[in-house]
Amino acid sequence: MPMIYFDNAATSWPKPPAVRAALDEYFGEAGGNPGRSGHRMSVAAARIVENAREVLAALFNASDPSRILFTHNATHALNLALYGLLRPGDHVLTTSMEHNSVMRPLRHLEGLGVEVTVIACTPDGRVDLEAVRRAIRRETRLLVTTHASNVAGRLNPVGDLAALAREAKIAHLVDAAQTAGSVPIDVRETGVDLLAFTGHKGLLGPTGTGGLYIRDGLTLAPLLRGGTGSDSAHETQPEFLPDAHESGTLNLAGIAGLGAAVRFLLEIGIEAVRAREQNLVAQFLAGASDISGITLYGPKDAALQCGLVSFNVGGAVPSEVGLILDESFGIMARTGLHCAPSAHRTLGTFPTGTVRFSFGWFNTPAEVEKALEALRQIAVWAAREAAVSHQEAVKTWTA
Ligand SMILES: Cc1ncc(COP(=O)(O)O)c(C=O)c1O
Repeated sequence: MPMIYFDNAATSWPKPPAVRAALDEYFGEAGGNPGRSGHRMSVAAARIVENAREVLAALFNASDPSRILFTHNATHALNLALYGLLRPGDHVLTTSMEHNSVMRPLRHLEGLGVEVTVIACTPDGRVDLEAVRRAIRRETRLLVTTHASNVAGRLNPVGDLAALAREAKIAHLVDAAQTAGSVPIDVRETGVDLLAFTGHKGLLGPTGTGGLYIRDGLTLAPLLRGGTGSDSAHETQPEFLPDAHESGTLNLAGIAGLGAAVRFLLEIGIEAVRAREQNLVAQFLAGASDISGITLYGPKDAALQCGLVSFNVGGAVPSEVGLILDESFGIMARTGLHCAPSAHRTLGTFPTGTVRFSFGWFNTPAEVEKALEALRQIAVWAAREAAVSHQEAVKTWTA
């Protein structure tokens, strides 16, 4: 049975061949620790890191590559931004569609005296800009919003939210975990202050990579302090970027792979990636809306969502549907709460969650068609199961 991978929102697969080649090249030819030694292998490793920083800056149209900081993933980048900016007495605004990598640090910060307001989104995951505007007050320091929900797929109007934040003189942090590499992002045009991204999803790089863009003029307290290979005569943390936030040896092999992945994407063009994913979503939505028993969540409009779709099949438990998709049809999907309980409460799918298909550059219309055929069969099964359990219930009741 050929395998169909529809779990690119968890981590993308496959990676471009250039990513594997870059890992090989790093271990074979670079291999040193940048900034720590002056020998050629250390210099070669430094070149790989700086090249990856440059292509990421180009991808997001950042003015200066040193404002791209490498982290282990989006979670690390979000924590760096949130703990680096917020202090007791500050007020922070966010939305009910956020991932736990935003919610959990915010709930922890709440315990330390930061006030948190969660703006309730509509049941299809839309944030009301006026509600955000009304919630801003004198102590508000930060607005945190996802670029696209990992549950509903809905894209937030990042430019409008950034403009609103700028007008109110508060910072705007965007969680681009689901969009970096698959939806165009221009930090200068939108005016985003902080952009957290992960390297292993749409950016097609290895796990253990990610980063944070910080706008010019904004400073953050470091999350970690330690050796940077720079300013080594001092026992205090350097204040210049990127070193201020890159203590300890970086994931050099991972960054080598990430750099190669971004070069691959820049060659294709992010608009082309977006168009491909949008077409797959449109194809899925059109097919699934004709299947009796399928409930779709989110905007149900490919133009308004990133490359993922969330749904349920009749009354079947999502994890059961996921198991059938894998075992009987070779389709890899994610099921459950997707680390975003608040988003599921918003959509009305808490606590069992949804089944999620997330498409990537390497998926095809033929795969979507196969998945739709699988769902047609699963929907018939789910309806039969529901009828049987209804009959059982009636029998028990009338016995
Ligand atoms: C919206 C969103 N934010 C943050 C994250 C965290 O990404 P990572 O696991 O790479 O830190 C995810 C991952 O699923 C996500 O979907």
